Amino acid sequence: MAAGQDVTSNGSRSGEHIAPIVPGRLPLLGHTMSLLGRRFRFLSSLRSHGEVVRIYLGPLPVYLVTSPELAWQVLATNADRFDKGILFDKIRPLSGNGLANSNGDFHRRQRRLMLPAFHRKHIAGSAYTMARAASDLIESWRPGESVAVDKRMADLALTIIGRTLFSAELGRDAIAEVQRSMPILIKYLTVRTFAPQWLPIPANRRFDEAAARFRRVVAEVIAAARTEGKDHGDLLSMLLLARDEDTGEGMSDQQIHDEIVTILTAGTETTAVALAWFFHELGQHPEVQRRFHAEIDQVLAGRMATLDDIPRLEYTRRIMCEVLRKYPILILMRRARTDVDLGGVHIQPGTEVALSQYTLHHDPHLYPDPARFDPDRWLPDRAARLPKGAFIPFGAGPHHCPGYSFAETEIAIVAATVAARWRLVPVAGKPVHPRLAATTHPNQLPMITMRRHT
Ligand code: HEM
Repeated sequence: MAAGQDVTSNGSRSGEHIAPIVPGRLPLLGHTMSLLGRRFRFLSSLRSHGEVVRIYLGPLPVYLVTSPELAWQVLATNADRFDKGILFDKIRPLSGNGLANSNGDFHRRQRRLMLPAFHRKHIAGSAYTMARAASDLIESWRPGESVAVDKRMADLALTIIGRTLFSAELGRDAIAEVQRSMPILIKYLTVRTFAPQWLPIPANRRFDEAAARFRRVVAEVIAAARTEGKDHGDLLSMLLLARDEDTGEGMSDQQIHDEIVTILTAGTETTAVALAWFFHELGQHPEVQRRFHAEIDQVLAGRMATLDDIPRLEYTRRIMCEVLRKYPILILMRRARTDVDLGGVHIQPGTEVALSQYTLHHDPHLYPDPARFDPDRWLPDRAARLPKGAFIPFGAGPHHCPGYSFAETEIAIVAATVAARWRLVPVAGKPVHPRLAATTHPNQLPMITMRRHT
């Protein structure tokens, strides 16, 4: 039976299941309005319609899997049957053929070249950059001041990635351009992804302009670094020096360029948003905050956080997991390369397939009372009961986020550095809720600084 057949309820013919169309589909627009509008309610509702459901991006059908088992199949066990799908076609003008956008043998080769740069021994150096940048930020705060925590975390994440990629002087312009363009790119990415191309919105033009500026500056830095020929020990030098173990070949300038843009896009907003929600949730849950502060005081005892502290920040890790559960990237997409069976539904080659971490992470069968912020869900014996695929903030399988350790280190070190000195208090009358973005970005996050230790 054809995967694109138009039915509205679960059924079975010749032993095959049919994925139901999720209610709310509009002519021409499909489910775009649900995804752009009340998307959290929409995404949470998907599981109740079946294990594989059909949504429409404009006229395009997308088969979305809602169970952890099927999500794991798509990302990991059956990964070789899928390519990156339409979402990645739409961001190709920005990140070219970087890791996140490539498939098959080319992806495997690139990943082999890139992974050493994310090795723990390099993250130790970045940990110092993270603690330093966070200390510089909080140095400027005064007691009783209102700080836009979401914006400051976005600046901080960009500064940290910028200094990790380009430690040398020649990266200064690139860091400045990154700080200018990234917020624009992130802002329009989701609209560009979910809205049909023909919708007359300024998002596409603004996105393209920022992407072009951004790519030009990065290209200039790479050319200058090649000419200079020095190893600065930063990520850019590592990419320039990386060689394939089998062939001895390095990456072309174009490829390095695509990887840098990919890292900048994949690694800044995601981490900044997690940090923002981390502080928001602490402000909402005094008992969680008290336990967190007690742990920080005991482990750090007034000194700067380092990579070696991370394993002892056990409660901090639980808060981080709960933040990444509650506020994940919304959706991951793939495109079937071959015929594939997903939970009895036959998927034809070329069909767009998706899964939503938001749907999985808010499934009440997996996480009772999913809206509640409860770091103790991540006590080892409770977490061990979750099936594979139930908690996938960093994805899984061959495209699993290579920056996960970098991100976890950054979240722990920045949170610890801030909390060692400041308690951040919510501002009354300023409601905070997620707004439309590729991640679950807060609409605003003003918080008042209160000194913890004098
Ligand atoms: C909390 C922070 C982060 C989250 C939640 C996150 C999440 C993810 C997810 C879900 C994927 C898989 C996408 C897919 O399968 O389609 C991914 C891929 C990727 N991430 Fe992250 N990420 C984070 C931080 C970072 C950082 C800090 C970096 C770099 C320093 C980074 C670099 C990448 C790259 C290069 C890929 C593409 C990997 C591939 O396709 O082989 N990420 N990330």
